[in-house]
Formats: sequence, C-alpha cells, structure tokens
Amino acid sequence: MSIQVSDGVFRLHTAETTYLFRTTAFGHLESLHYGRRVEDADVESLRYKHEIPHGSTVLYDEKADPSYCLEELPLEWSGVGKGDFRVTPMELRLPDGSFTCDFVYDSHRIESGIVKMDTLPQSAGIGAETLLVTLKDKAFTVYLDLYYTVYEAENVITRRAVLRNAEQAPVLLKRLMSYSLDLPDRGYTVATLSGGWINEANVIERKLETGMLVNESTSFSQHRHNPAVALLSRGATEDSGLVYGFNLVYGGNHQTSVELSPTGLVRITGGINPYCFLWELQPGETFETPEAVMTCSLGGKNGMSQNFHAFVQKQIVRGDWQNKERPILINNWEANFFQFRQNSLLRLAKRGKRLGCELFVLDDGWFGARNTDTAGLGDYTVNRKKLPEGLEGLGKRVNGLGLSFGLWFEPENVNDDSDLYRAHPDWAIQRPNRTPALGRHQKILNLTLPAVRDYIVENVSHILDTCPIAYVKWDMNRKVSDFEDGAFLHRYMIGYYEVLSRIFRPRPQILLEGCASGGGRFDLGHLCFAQQIWASDDTDPIERLRIQGGLSLFYPVSTMGAHVSMAPHQQTLRHTPLFTRFAVAAFGAFGLELDPMDLTPIERKVLTSMLSEYRKIRKTCQFGTFTRVDTGNPYIIQWQAQSETQTVILRAKTLTKAAQVNDLLTVTGLDPHKTYTCREIQNPLFVAGFGTLLKHILPVKIRSYSHILLAANKRLKMDDYAEQYRASGAQLMAGVQLHRSFIGTGYSEKMHMQGDDSAMLFVITEDS
Ligand code: GLA
Repeated sequence: MSIQVSDGVFRLHTAETTYLFRTTAFGHLESLHYGRRVEDADVESLRYKHEIPHGSTVLYDEKADPSYCLEELPLEWSGVGKGDFRVTPMELRLPDGSFTCDFVYDSHRIESGIVKMDTLPQSAGIGAETLLVTLKDKAFTVYLDLYYTVYEAENVITRRAVLRNAEQAPVLLKRLMSYSLDLPDRGYTVATLSGGWINEANVIERKLETGMLVNESTSFSQHRHNPAVALLSRGATEDSGLVYGFNLVYGGNHQTSVELSPTGLVRITGGINPYCFLWELQPGETFETPEAVMTCSLGGKNGMSQNFHAFVQKQIVRGDWQNKERPILINNWEANFFQFRQNSLLRLAKRGKRLGCELFVLDDGWFGARNTDTAGLGDYTVNRKKLPEGLEGLGKRVNGLGLSFGLWFEPENVNDDSDLYRAHPDWAIQRPNRTPALGRHQKILNLTLPAVRDYIVENVSHILDTCPIAYVKWDMNRKVSDFEDGAFLHRYMIGYYEVLSRIFRPRPQILLEGCASGGGRFDLGHLCFAQQIWASDDTDPIERLRIQGGLSLFYPVSTMGAHVSMAPHQQTLRHTPLFTRFAVAAFGAFGLELDPMDLTPIERKVLTSMLSEYRKIRKTCQFGTFTRVDTGNPYIIQWQAQSETQTVILRAKTLTKAAQVNDLLTVTGLDPHKTYTCREIQNPLFVAGFGTLLKHILPVKIRSYSHILLAANKRLKMDDYAEQYRASGAQLMAGVQLHRSFIGTGYSEKMHMQGDDSAMLFVITEDS
C-alpha cells in the first residue's frame, strides 16, 4: 500500500520518497514532509513548531489557540482572508459576494488506480493508488476535492483539485490552481525552460529570494515558458542533491508561482493561469483543474529527469507507438516547401529509402489553394494539380517503395482565403467590433463550437481512413488573440482534447507528432495523444544540444522530434559536420529534413552507413536511461543513454581549445566487475574541409579551391581515428583519456581531426 492514513496523518510513499501531511485541530491540511523516504515518520519531529506566535500576525482563532496562524503553517491548500498572505491557490467569489473562504477537512477515501477526469487528459494510473481528501468551506456548501495519485515505482505523485458547488447560487472562480505545496526553504534555485520560436527550452535558473517567481504563459503552453518547473536545493548538481520537479498535464495557459515567505517557507502552486480567467460555476456544477505531476529526487537533476522520463514513458504517452522504436523519417518540408508534384515527392521518397529511411512525410501544401502560407488552411480537398492520384494514390506508391506514409495537418487554423472561411466566417475566433490580429496570415478556429469540432474530426478521420497513413504531424502555427474571456481559453483546450480523443483514440496505430511552429506546445497534455513532438524548427545541432538538453530535464528522448538538415543551417548559417547533425538527432525521434540530392555522393554513402549504425543503437538512444554527464567543461556536452544491453554516449565539442591535452571520457552506470567493449562509431572526414592543411598528408600541393579537390571531395572521404577499448566497468567509469586532436605539430593516424562543433558517438557493450 503506497497510501496509509491513520490518526489524521496521510502517508504517501513512493519507492524513494515520502509525502506526508495531517489535519490540524482546526481541520486545515498541514504539510509535514516531501522528500527522502521515511518509513515511520515522526510527526512531532517534522511539524512546524509554533507555540509562540510571530509578531505582526493575524491569528486564526485567538480564543481557541493563541498561537495558530495560517501564515506560519506549511499547508496543502490555502484560501483567502483568514490570515495567510502568501500566494493563494484559490480565489472564489462565494454567494455572499465575498472572496473570504476557508476550506477544512470533510472526508477522505482511497481508490486503486486513478479517478477518471471528465474534461482533460490525465496520467494512465498503471499500478497507482489515489487518495481523495475532500475539504468544505466553513460557511458554504462548496466542496474542494484534492486528489493525490501515487506512482510508487516512478517516484511521482500527481495532484489535482475539483471544486463542487452545492449551493443554490453561482460561485465565481477567478483562480483555481491544481495544487499548492509548502516546503521549508533550502536555498532554492528555480529552473524553467524559456525561449521563443527557434530558441526553445533555454534552461533559466534564478535564485529564489524573499518574494515570488512566476513561470506562466498567456497563450497555450508555448515556446516562451514551458509549464515544467524544477526547484534545486542549494548545491544540487546533475547527480546529487535534493531536487523537486513539477509539471502539468495541460497545454493551455499555465502558471506556476514559487514564493519564499519572509519566515522561510516556500510555497509552490501551479495550474491554469488566472490571466483573464473567470468561470461561473452554477449550482450543482463541478470544475476540474488539470493534473499536476510532482517528483522529488535526492539524486540531483538527473535523478529528477529520470523519474519524469520513466513516468512520461509509462503513464503519459500511449498508443501502439508508446514503447516502439520510432521510424527513421524523411520529411519534405525543407526540401520542397510548397513547391512539389507527385513525381518530385516520389523521387525524394526513393532517395530517402536508399539512405535507409522508413517513413516518408508529406508536410504542408497538399490541400486547397495552399501554394503559399496565405491560403488554403481549413480546406481538406487535395490539390490535384500537385497530386493527380490524390493522397491515396501517393500513399500507395510510397508504400510500394517500402516506406510508410505520413501527412501534415494544421486543423485548428483557417486562412481568410479558404473555402471554409468563405462558408463559415463565424467559425474563426474574432471579435465583431475589432480588426482581428492575424498570426502567419491565419485565424484560429473556435474549438468551443461543436460544429467546428465535428468538421475537423470528420475531415481528418476521413483522410486517415481512406489513405494509407501511418503517421500524422499535427501543427499549430499561431498564438491566440481576440478571445472572449478567460473561460474561453480553457473551454478551447477542452474542445481541443475532445477533438484529439475522437480522432486518435480509435486509431492507436497512428504515430502522432505534435508541432506548434516547432516546440511551441511541448507539454504533457499533448503527449497524452502525441507520442512525439517536433522540438524546434531550429535543427542546427549546436542549438539542438541546448534545446534537446533543456527538454531532457523533464521529457524523455523518445518524445523529441530531431532531424538532420543541411549545412549551412537555414537559420544560423552555421556549417556543422554531417556526423554532428546525425549524432545529436540520434538522441531523439530521428529523421531527415533535406533532399539527399543536395548531399555529395560520398555524404550520401556515409549517411547510409550512419543510418544503419543508428538502427543498432536506436532503442537505447530513444528509450534507455538518459543522463546528462557533467564534463566540467561548458564546451563539451556529454549525454549517455543506457539499456540492459548497451550504453551509448554522445560527446559533442562546441569550442575547440588548441592546447587541450586532457580529454577524459567518463561513463556512468556500468557494473564495475564486468568487462566491456567501448567502440567509437566511425567519424568521416571530408577532404575539402581541410583546405591548405592537406599539405601535411599529401605529397603534392593542391590548392584549396582547385577542381581536383572539389571533385575528390564529392567522392572520397578519410576516416578519423576511432577509439576502441576493452576494459572493466570500473575502468570506464574512472575515465578513459582519448587520443589527442590535431594541433598542427604533425600527423598521426591515431589522432582526431575534429574541430569546433564536432561530435563523437561511443557504443559500450558487455563482453560475453
Ligand atoms: C511549421 C512547422 C514546420 C513546417 C511548417 C509548414 O513552421 O514547425 O515544421 O511543418 O510549419 O508550414
């Protein structure tokens, strides 16, 4: 039993953590502990001692207890107007017109699994147990159900709140968060993922000082601020120290506030953003908040990440692809944009197949008058000029090449220049008295209207059922504007989840990739439907080290769409080696976003062998235990993925130092007593990249711009030195000094010819 209740004390245990609270004499829920697992936790030693009241406090009931002050208690929930002046998880206008409220213990029960939600996606409840504690306002028959679902194996507890109005009059909700939790201060730093388009998931760490830090979004979950938040206790590193993580199973406007009170308590509360939020709860109605996910680890940031990865993998992602290696795809977007015909697509698919791709994805531009991004969105009629045999014909031909077929949709949006908009201008979100604000020349369809939801479900489902489609990319390329009120944004999300459920729950065989101008909607709500999400339109591998590395704090590698594209890169103009582009994308749901004809023949050959190597390590990279290894050098980024049979290590160098002789490869998680073989995957060298340096190895002088060199560069490659060791796990974990890099003092076959932006991939297997 992971949940035990006795004498008013609620004990929630996961494999490595304990979460403890109790009811006070007045019925409030007092937080006692969230952290290290404690079997028989002693309440007396854990409780906040408050025999003497602080100066300048408001006492809850001075006569009954002259020391009981809500402001100074760590609480599981708090209201308004009774002496707690910290950020509140709830603001309600009750039938007396007042915001004062005071929710106290009413009853509790324990259920196995989860208690199903009516309107929003939630975790699966496999092996879980749920505690429901019901609170009631002291003056009105308004109930608050607090749900705690304990995932013992994953070290996760989820929380959510449901408000029930049993009064005869409406209750107005201005704010209702999913959870609130108070912890003793341990010198926390708050880590969030923030950024923008082609700049997703920067890890921002801010020290928590007295006052409040807020992480929020005002238009869906968004590039700007991901809903996930971590609290790092002072001195926590990648591998050690107490770290808490919080996330929401929700892709709407979100807010997480972390407040350090003047008396040293930290309150964290998260849920739907109260921004413009107003919801009138009629008599007899209930309102459910999104599920929040919490984890805690004493094993530093990696410990927190690994808990989240296991949880997301098992309890959030679902469908036939949940645990399956993701197909190597080739997407035609950067190869074609809107300019293509069936024949050119088939040529591209054939080239992809020759390289080793398994899935061909037709991106934007296949429907209506969609020849630029100013027209066609909202329509589903296939453009027969481009695709004379329709999607069905194209799909069959793609299948005939030995590839599965995938298709792009952007169902939530509409262009003014579309048949849909001409027929139903009232289906777009806009205000009658204002000029609508457009994003990428498009408006958002009003998913709160049942007719709009039916239109999308019917059209998308029809295509999925009549064409051989194995994969869908569901895009959403703008933020919301011109909305009615705060309730609207939440109703939109409820409508959105209904649409996704109706399309994808009956079709679990489809691999769904979410996308919102890249990683604009990377959240757990989306991952309840989409097995993977396009992490960013920025495919530059050096940028991706930051983006995928940032996302890895909270999300597993298998959920991150990651593709190899051309160099120089379309957004950064950076020239990166093909191997680096491959190696970074290998730690993701891998694909190609290029026309192989733009590569040289030798690059195509090399890429073909990289893809065949990839098939041998894909399962480990996507589903293995993922660790960010701190190399002590900010320019050397090392990731490790470990399965039962294999360890794969990516070691990327973003800035070369000429005099560097220390290049230590460290490995974690091996059995010290076993023997392993550690081999580096062959890293190719393309001759033109060396310019005049070729004089070091060639007997004749060749100018760097000569035709001979350019011709040779198309067909010939050299091999960089590939490291190989047979050593004990103890040795590999102690560290292996790698061979030195070229510094102009001579040439040896046992040296690396890799400069800035290079990458190495190591595969470690146990010797039999
Ligand atoms: C967005 C996506 C891209 C591509 C285009 C198509 O920008 O992020 O990957 O699908 O839309 O218009």
